[in-house]
Parts: sequence; C-alpha cells; structure tokens
Amino acid sequence: MIRLDNLTKVFDTPKGAVTAADHISMEVPTGEICILLGPSGCGKTTTLKMINRIIRPTSGKVFINGEDTTSLDTQDLRRSIGYVIQQIGLFPNMTIEENITVVPKLLGWDKAKYKERAREMMRMIALEPDAFLKRYPSELSGGQQQRIGVARALAADPPVMLMDEPFGAIDPINRAVIQDEFLKMQQDLKKTIMFVSHDIDEAIKMGDRIAIFREGKLVQYSQPDELLAAPKNEFVESFLGEDRALKRLNLVKVRDLASEDIGLVRPDDTLETALARIGDYGYQTSIVMVNAKRQPVGIISAAVARTTKGHCRDHFQSVPVVVSLDDDLRKVASLMFSNDMTWVPCVDDEGRIVGQITQRSITHHLGSRYRAHSGADDTVGEASPSSSASEE
Ligand SMILES: Nc1ncnc2c1ncn2[C@@H]1O[C@H](COP(=O)(O)OP(=O)(O)OP(=O)(O)O)[C@@H](O)[C@H]1O
Ligand SMILES: [Mg+2]
Repeated sequence: MIRLDNLTKVFDTPKGAVTAADHISMEVPTGEICILLGPSGCGKTTTLKMINRIIRPTSGKVFINGEDTTSLDTQDLRRSIGYVIQQIGLFPNMTIEENITVVPKLLGWDKAKYKERAREMMRMIALEPDAFLKRYPSELSGGQQQRIGVARALAADPPVMLMDEPFGAIDPINRAVIQDEFLKMQQDLKKTIMFVSHDIDEAIKMGDRIAIFREGKLVQYSQPDELLAAPKNEFVESFLGEDRALKRLNLVKVRDLASEDIGLVRPDDTLETALARIGDYGYQTSIVMVNAKRQPVGIISAAVARTTKGHCRDHFQSVPVVVSLDDDLRKVASLMFSNDMTWVPCVDDEGRIVGQITQRSITHHLGSRYRAHSGADDTVGEASPSSSASEE
C-alpha cells in the first residue's frame, strides 16, 4: 500500500515560489494500479518523485506498507521501488541486457538468474531477446527504448512501481499490446503501482483508480467508472471529454449485460415457426438460426418469413457479426454501428449462442448509472435510455 499524507512540494525559483504539489493525500491499496492524470505541469511527476525521494518533500509524508519512508535509507528505498522515468533514461554506455539487470545485480542475484530474467522481461515487452540484448540504447527506436525502460523497472520484481508515462513514445498498436501484457502480468504479480499518464483512454484501461490533478492539487480520486459517471466539477468533466459516456463502454463486458433470453430457430423449423417466434420474442427484423451445437449458422429475416413458405435451412442469410462474453461494449457498439444492427448474438469460447446484447440495454446501462450517480432530475436528460427502443 502506498499512502501519501499531505505531501507538498514548493520549488523556490527566481520568479518566486511554485507549489508543484499541494497537500496531496491519497492511498493506493496493495495490488492496485493508480493513474495520475492531468494537464502538463499539474504536478504528476513531482508527486511521483517524492515517493522515491528523487525530490524531497517540502512537507508531508509517504508511507509504504504502513511504514513512514522518511526513516528509510534512500538507496534501500529506491532499490525496493521500480521506477520508469518520463525521459526513458537508459544508460547509454551499457547494453540493453546490462541496463535491464542493473538492479538485480545490485541486489546480488546470480548471473544465470539475472540473465534469464532479462530474457523473460524482453518477452514481456514483445522484443526478441537475441536481437536486442546485446545492442546499445542508441541503436533502438524511442519506443523500443521506452519498453526497455519498463523492463528495467520490473526486472528486480519490486512490489511497488512508479511509472511516469511509460508507454508515451510507443505507437498505438504496440502500446495496446504492451498494455495488455502488462495487465496480464499485473493479474499474477499484483504490484502496487503509481502510473502517470496523459491519456484518458490509457487511464481507463489500466487504472483501478484514477487521480485527477490540477495545478498541484488532487481534484478527484475515484474508480474509473465512478469518475466517468460522476465527475466532481467542470474541470474534471471537460478533462474527460464530451464522449465520456462512450468511454465508459470500455469498462463494461458483454457478460455484464448480455441477456440469456434469446429466441432461436433450427434449420428444420418452418418459416412459419420462425415468424411466430419472432413475434413471441417481440423482435422486429430477424431471428438467429443455430445448428445442433447451438452455434449460429444464419439469420432468418422477418420479411422473408412473412412472404415465403418453406424451411429455415433454405432461406437464411449469413450472420453478420457475433461477439464473445469478454468483449467490451465499445467493440460491440462499434460493430452494431458498422453493421447497422440493433442487437448482436453473444457466443461462448466454443462459438455457441449464450445470449444477445441490444443497443437498448447498452443505453439503458449507461443512462441508469448516470441517474444513480447524479440523483437529480436536471441531469436525467443527459443520458436517458433511448426512447426509440429497438428489439430486445
Ligand atoms: N526543479 C524544479 N524547479 C522549479 N519548478 C519546477 C521544478 N520541477 C517542476 N517544477 C514545476 O512544478 C510544476 C509541476 O511539474 P511536474 O513536472 O510535476 O508536472 P507534470 O504534471 O509531470 O507535467 P507533464 O505532464 O508535462 O510531465 C510545473 O509548474 C513545473 O514547472
Ligand atoms: Mg511529468
């Protein structure tokens, strides 16, 4: 656990005092990732650097696992905390392998162990060990160097990590890969992490909690969904962006919202049966046809069923899209829009139908939580469920 108690830094500059961090009090529970988010110059890096005492606090305290770190030896403190600095900061005269293994060597690991660790870290950051370990930082791109910076901070397996925009220089595709790898690693290792970001989407994806800073002050400290649903003031609201309702879609999985109640037909069913079932379930456009394993094999359109005689197996269209239970709603919404659908079937790992998710259930979910948070009538219109209900 990391706890900051009224942590304050005032820089004396020729132009007067600058309060870079102003009585910051917050707590990051063990095993969680806390994202520090806010505009440039709001005090994120300063706050981070006070934790491993690269910057000495003017006042206030830092506790790690309940222990006041003021009393700890600075070297010991720094070695026990992984640190990814904003400017990458690899040692230019050391190979990548030497860079990654600096702290393990200081801690007295044996050679075989730290060399294997370097390879393991390279795999985590998706760089080929044999191709990179013997190179020097100047022979790597900025984004690759940044990944090495992350590997170096993780190498000694510290329980606490401070990461200052660790993925900022990496292109979006590789960034997503590394974010995913990092989250996978975090599921096993459960490190306690303070992570600075400029990027709200990254914050929502990576953060168990998000701390919004403004001009040295901590403005709001909440879990991502709470933050997006109930920003504390106009600053937070404008910082999150007008599409914050859409951003919440990232946080919800299909399994949280899918309805198991789905009408289906078999290839041997008649179109008459299909039409009746479409009516029974209140569907408007179509119904899914499944095989004996409950895998979707086609769609029977209401228009066809109404005007044609015969069996479903002879009159189906292809299934435009299915989603799996672990997909997030952002992907689902995107697929719905691009395929002009108001619902999509959900399948399990074997591709069997387990339910469906509708546009209406999505808007309803977002709308109801907004109302729950706001508690006031005047904000209801902001995100009320769609009245032009589609089928569900
Ligand atoms: N050594 C210093 N001397 C004087 N002022 C400083 C010093 N370091 C930082 N500051 C000031 O403190 C404030 C906070 O800086 P800090 O580096 O913590 O911002 P940040 O939130 O990390 O910004 P960015 O997103 O641009 O990295 C800024 O106004 C900055 O100019
Ligand atoms: Mg910074």
